[in-house]
Amino acid sequence: MNDLLIEASGLKHTYRNGATSVPVLDGVSFSLRQGKAVAIVGPSGSGKSTLLNVLNGLLVAEAGELRIFGQSSQQLSQNDWAELRRTQIATLFQDGNLISTLTVSRNIAFRAGLAGLAENGGAALMDQLGIADTAHRYPDQLSGGQRQRVALACAFVMQPKLILADEPTGSLDYATAQRVTPLFFDAIRERNVGALIVTHNPELAERCDRILELREGALRPWDLAPSS
Ligand SMILES: Nc1ncnc2c1ncn2[C@@H]1O[C@H](COP(=O)(O)OP(=O)(O)O)[C@@H](O)[C@H]1O
Ligand SMILES: [Mg+2]
Repeated sequence: MNDLLIEASGLKHTYRNGATSVPVLDGVSFSLRQGKAVAIVGPSGSGKSTLLNVLNGLLVAEAGELRIFGQSSQQLSQNDWAELRRTQIATLFQDGNLISTLTVSRNIAFRAGLAGLAENGGAALMDQLGIADTAHRYPDQLSGGQRQRVALACAFVMQPKLILADEPTGSLDYATAQRVTPLFFDAIRERNVGALIVTHNPELAERCDRILELREGALRPWDLAPSS
């Protein structure tokens, strides 16, 4: 079986606002297999979040080829993409993307339900993530770090094939980030999940199979000590 989750070749994306255009992605090529994690680093504004949104179908690249789970993106309708986002592709957005009118435990149960899964499992995840005591609070009653952990629980509870994570430890203190990091690698090892993780956390990046840098619109192997 083909175990490639993502095959991207020459992806381009330009934001256009009236007369102004901001070219962001300019030939992004890479692939991701089941059971592998790729870290993406790169300066602020280099297009990392844009790339994740092309990979989950919320943005359509203007050029290039994208195959997701072996299927060409050109064959996927908006409904197909929505179904993938409900059941197979978990995106951890930078802002958490929680439903403000639902409590923490309802947010998590809702995501499991959308993916067609029984609601149990949420309590164990809340325990693992250290947010069990927030179960009955609403998102606006949480700290940034708690919201980020609820978003992680929402991603893991849907048992996706692919996790796209946008700075998943960016709002967490060191100790909490240390506690959250193994969850990615448990999912990767135990359920053969593939993960693309935008991160500036060196410990998270170094546990990934590869580190790529997004620079000048393209992905390159990340060089710890550039020679020039
Ligand atoms: N909706 C948008 N319209 C126009 N420009 C945008 C939009 N979203 C992001 N950008 C611009 O695209 C560039 C890349 O943004 P982004 O993907 O968020 O970068 P990163 O996640 O690496 O910080 C930035 O210059 C940003 O200002
Ligand atoms: Mg970003």
